[in-house]
Amino acid sequence: MAQQFEDKFNRKFYYLRLSVTDVCNFKCTYCLPDGYKPSGKKNSSFISLDEIRRVVTAFADCGTTKVRITGGEPSLRKDFNQIIETVAQTPGIRKVATTTNGYRMEKQVADWKAAGLTHINVSVDSLDPRLFHQITGENKFHQVMAGIERAFEVGYEQVKVNVVLMKDLNHHQLPQFLEWIKDKPIQLRFIELMQTGEMDDLFDRHHVSGVAIRNHLIANGWLLKVRAANDGPAQVFVHPDYQGEIGLIMPYEKHFCDSCNRLRISALGKLHLCLFGEQGLELRDLLQQDEQHGELIARIEQQLQTKRVSHFLHDGDSGMTPHLASIGG
Ligand code: 5AD
Ligand code: SF4
Repeated sequence: MAQQFEDKFNRKFYYLRLSVTDVCNFKCTYCLPDGYKPSGKKNSSFISLDEIRRVVTAFADCGTTKVRITGGEPSLRKDFNQIIETVAQTPGIRKVATTTNGYRMEKQVADWKAAGLTHINVSVDSLDPRLFHQITGENKFHQVMAGIERAFEVGYEQVKVNVVLMKDLNHHQLPQFLEWIKDKPIQLRFIELMQTGEMDDLFDRHHVSGVAIRNHLIANGWLLKVRAANDGPAQVFVHPDYQGEIGLIMPYEKHFCDSCNRLRISALGKLHLCLFGEQGLELRDLLQQDEQHGELIARIEQQLQTKRVSHFLHDGDSGMTPHLASIGG
């Protein structure tokens, strides 16, 4: 390993979130309520297989062991299997994950597994099909659930499920969610709604803290799992009577950013140090030839020194991020 990506606060970066497209076919109220709209910029093609190989190689050479392929909806890329293969074959990368809306999972997950995908996160914001439709804009609840079942059939030992916690929509549905994971190896992760640039009053209407869920879990015998050194900011709870686990992602809690171990690349090849906060640093000019490897690492390394200790979401500052589909959740 050439060196290790590390910032001024001694945080090391093991984990790269790589967005491969901004396009999505869902219209989640908290993300793309009006659906995906092309930016209209010229020459804004998404990062190519060669560019992906080069950027992942640079990160792997500097200590990254895990890559999550995100979007938009990453499986809408026609070369999604090749993207998985490219990442999986990069020396040093041991975990290849994706975050998907599950739309294509039932049909394709066997191919993803064969290509080298080791971990899957899928979004299920409600177990009530009508509410699922209301939140995502798509009547695809049963299709997504069938995708999760298929993932187990093809050999995934655990599937992570993301639920964006929303007041008056799904925050009362904890009992249903708990029932669901009783006998299933699912890690269900409640994510507090985060404010992004294009959000209207949705945040004020629906943001609710995860504290009530945490209190309920603790009162009912759930135990906080000890975190491993490389673990990210999720708090994970386990219970002897449940096969599944519960994760809480609470970005508005103090010290949330202390365990930050991730960097992001947008689908247009920009480096983002945080979900919130900056326009992103252009890397694409250094992704054109294998010989630019050293220069690429140097540019990332230099930018990393400007990473801030924390986001400023508490001050209502969501930075430049219009919605999370633009930067990969
Ligand atoms: N707040 C919280 N989570 C969000 N996601 C997208 N937008 C938001 C937001 N505003 C998450 C969803 C989805 C993943 C791709 O990103 O959990 O599963
Ligand atoms: Fe698509 Fe994911 Fe955004 Fe929903 S949250 S609109 S599935 S990118």
